[in-house]
Amino acid sequence: MNAPGTVVYAGQQEPVGICYRIVMWEADALPQSSLEEWKDARKDLMAAMRDAGIKGARGKLSGLEKELHELNCRVIEGPLATCPRRALTCTRANALALLLAAEEGVLGFRVGACSVEVLLQAGEECDLVAMQESWKRSTEGVEWCSDAICEAMMPAAAARLQAEYRAADTLSETIAEEEAVTDLELSPFHHVTVLAREAVEALQPAEGRVMVDATLGGGGHSELMLQAGAEVWGIDQDPAARAAAKRRLAPFGDKLHVVAGNFRNAVALLQERGVQSVDGLLADIGISSPQVDCAERGFSFLNEGPLDMRMNPAAERSAADIVNTAAESELADILWQYGEERASRAIARRIVQERSKAPITTTTQLADIIATVLPRKGKQHPATRSFQALRIAVNDELGALADLLHTGLSLLRSGGRFAIITFHSLEDRAVKRFFEQVTRPEIDRPEWPAPRPNPDYAAKLVFRKPITAGEAELSANPRSRSAKLRVIEKL
Ligand SMILES: C[S@@+](CC[C@H](N)C(=O)[O-])C[C@H]1O[C@@H](n2cnc3c(N)ncnc32)[C@H](O)[C@@H]1O
Repeated sequence: MNAPGTVVYAGQQEPVGICYRIVMWEADALPQSSLEEWKDARKDLMAAMRDAGIKGARGKLSGLEKELHELNCRVIEGPLATCPRRALTCTRANALALLLAAEEGVLGFRVGACSVEVLLQAGEECDLVAMQESWKRSTEGVEWCSDAICEAMMPAAAARLQAEYRAADTLSETIAEEEAVTDLELSPFHHVTVLAREAVEALQPAEGRVMVDATLGGGGHSELMLQAGAEVWGIDQDPAARAAAKRRLAPFGDKLHVVAGNFRNAVALLQERGVQSVDGLLADIGISSPQVDCAERGFSFLNEGPLDMRMNPAAERSAADIVNTAAESELADILWQYGEERASRAIARRIVQERSKAPITTTTQLADIIATVLPRKGKQHPATRSFQALRIAVNDELGALADLLHTGLSLLRSGGRFAIITFHSLEDRAVKRFFEQVTRPEIDRPEWPAPRPNPDYAAKLVFRKPITAGEAELSANPRSRSAKLRVIEKL
């Protein structure tokens, strides 16, 4: 008899895969007494299963297996359903899933709320402890809890995973993208699209035209472009946004292509998919409302949540990593450059003092520390600028924007349009400067006797001044207050 978790294809003697279940839950999600109780019950059931297996009592074995599965679910899913940090656990599982997708020997995997099931190529007998240790080492930033378990899956569950694997054929990308859906991704996505009509009209989508929405988000702009008959390639680095846009835009079928990735790599992402040039490129920079509103994403100081702020939950550095490990001078620079925070040095000093006592792990903890340096004046919370700065640093937002600006035009056909919506002066300044640089036919310098042709000249301005929200939009959506739309057309 093969070990539990071993999978044999019909008609094949040799096992082709071994299934493991990795369970990761918060150490504090269960009281210690319940954990002990569960471990004992589980041990008894496992022993009974072993006996039943040896005696060949198949009916009893499957009954015991069901019981064991229910016991696991009760323990794992029960308390976590009410555990406020549940989503964080999902994010960790997702990070592990991404790692697994890239790992050699992993045939397939499936991500659950707080466990990951993995189908490994059958080979030498696996050393579970060593394997788990190696995953722990390679998932830097994924905080494994001391009760993490890596175990062989029971035969019926293993067979289910194997069947999914066979049906999926090519697992890694498909499952990572389509099925590694966490609870976070299934939650409702409410984002009011800013400058929707203005941006889409400027891009002139139509039947037969191909558009790129580099910031798919909830799909608001994309929907209008699809309604106009265009084909849309939607890029987003946030799995929750991609899942929401797919749901909303499903009626457009294969006119929409959703791409996971950072828009700084837009050219490569599209070329890999056979798209060499397009008619329009839109970027509605910044974060979406669900990113800010969801406490578990850690963007907002108004709600207690982990200090995270990653738009891409699999990205390496979270806000907590920066706050707890960056040098004081680096912290001060981040707050000054990206938040224009005048008290940057004092805040950085206080952060360093506080983190030497205990790590700073939550949004409200950081907001409270900042408030001790900057007493509240007026309506704005003293942490507003620092949180903006950290968010920009965590997601390298200005770096990604610069890369998109410098590569975006190369994707456009002649007459194609490039539209960017920004929400703060740092971004708008970068867009304005770049658009000026590429739309000026000549450049002049005081030391030159006459103007010279501009080697970067490649486009013309569609609007001389940025488009901003009108009265109706301003009163309906206060977030539109700071939005600026700039558009150029490739020559
Ligand atoms: C303001 S929302 C877009 C909303 C969208 N236009 C709509 O109407 O629903 C910005 C989105 O861009 C994504 N995003 C921001 N920077 C990105 C980057 N560098 N690469 C890919 N996606 C990015 C965010 O994850 C977010 O979902």
